[in-house]
Amino acid sequence: MTTHSHQMHLAAFALAGPVSGNHGGWRYPSADTNLLSASYYKRLGQLLEGGRFDLLFLADVLAVPNRYQGSIDSQLRYGALGSLRLEPLTVLATVAAATERLGLASTISTSYFEPFQVARSLATLDHLSEGRSAWNIVTSFQAAEAANFGRDEQLSREERYDRADEFVEVACKLWDSWRDGAVVLDRETPLFVDPSKVAPIDHEGRYFRVKGPLNVSRPPQGRPVFIQAGASGRGRDFAARWAEVIFVTHSSLESAQEFYRDMKQRAAKFGRNPDDLKVLPGIVPIVGETRTIAEETEGLLNGLVIPEAGLSTLSYHLDIDLAAYPQDELLPQVDVPGVQGHYKEVAELTHRHGLTLRQLGTRYGVGPLRDFVGSAREVVDTMQHWFEARACDGFMIQAPYLPGGLEDFVRLAVPELQKRGLFRTEYSGNTLRDHLGLARPAA
Ligand SMILES: Cc1cc2nc3c(=O)[nH]c(=O)nc-3n(C[C@H](O)[C@H](O)[C@H](O)COP(=O)(O)O)c2cc1C
Repeated sequence: MTTHSHQMHLAAFALAGPVSGNHGGWRYPSADTNLLSASYYKRLGQLLEGGRFDLLFLADVLAVPNRYQGSIDSQLRYGALGSLRLEPLTVLATVAAATERLGLASTISTSYFEPFQVARSLATLDHLSEGRSAWNIVTSFQAAEAANFGRDEQLSREERYDRADEFVEVACKLWDSWRDGAVVLDRETPLFVDPSKVAPIDHEGRYFRVKGPLNVSRPPQGRPVFIQAGASGRGRDFAARWAEVIFVTHSSLESAQEFYRDMKQRAAKFGRNPDDLKVLPGIVPIVGETRTIAEETEGLLNGLVIPEAGLSTLSYHLDIDLAAYPQDELLPQVDVPGVQGHYKEVAELTHRHGLTLRQLGTRYGVGPLRDFVGSAREVVDTMQHWFEARACDGFMIQAPYLPGGLEDFVRLAVPELQKRGLFRTEYSGNTLRDHLGLARPAA
């Protein structure tokens, strides 16, 4: 049986572009639209560090989505998810320089890069940030991404995960190709690096041939913290094997509880301590000084969501063109090539609320779960209920607009969580592994 820590973990979901939790967010009057400036991201990092967050998470995509009506038009026009995306590792390097404790998580695909390059970039970020890096390991799911990397089509889901398993194995070998203490830097001897502590990996596998060693020494955390968000059976097994943080979206407490139970059991099946895998569902909290203020903000935000923007993003997530279906009828049961987790969420919504496709577009554009709107006490009551009902180990906070939505959460909800002893008031360690209570992996 797993022990349930009495304190939550908090991550903030963002991306280096418009949209965090709500498709109307960038249109909100006080939203900062200075998305191309380093100061925007530094300010986010400092805000989160002030709120003692575990980490800032940056999602990513390798194409401008073009699934809705077979065009990039709607994604660009409405500033929908993926319309504009700065490269996340570069952005996190600027955040690292402006913060001291906050964990820094970058999404990087295993389908279009090479393990050497990714292991090197992440080791660099881990060194520069003194042990605060994390990797959201994704396999990618869009034909539009394949087309940017010289492929006519994507690998099948099975093959994407086979490649991902080998990719992560190779990356781990590369991080371990330098033993701890290899860098000596003795001017007198002279001994810069002890050659007996660095060795090639000579990896020869189905997808990769890598000689090694890496040209960066073993990262402060041993390796970055692994994050994953796959929801298919194969995705869940991949997460159970590798992930230390799982990001997931749900449409109800019950589905969150089912997922939590299942993931902890799968981790145990892989011989891992289930406590070493933290499940953080995404929520879009709207916190106000009073419930009325929060509801007014919600009303304003929802009024800014255009149904086509939500449908356009949902088309990209499911990798099917939803413009091809009748807009005033329910989402039909379809075989979804894209993200199973997102399909499950919207299928549940359609079923429970009888939403037409057009209504579903608005609903999806508003972001996952609307049960977290109200005063700080009300929002924290719901968070506490989820936490104690074993639906999660904490949350991925998807602020509805930035930075104001996050400022409200940090100013109002975080102190309430702290007052109840549910969240740290100070960092007790320096690295992201320290914040998450995860041991540094042995080489
Ligand atoms: C909540 C959530 C967030 C995700 N974020 C990203 C992302 O930023 N970039 C990406 O390429 N894939 C992202 N994914 C996709 C997954 O990591 C995974 O590649 C995809 O779900 C396909 O695996 P599956 O069929 O097992 O779900 C996300 C999935 C979920 C459920």
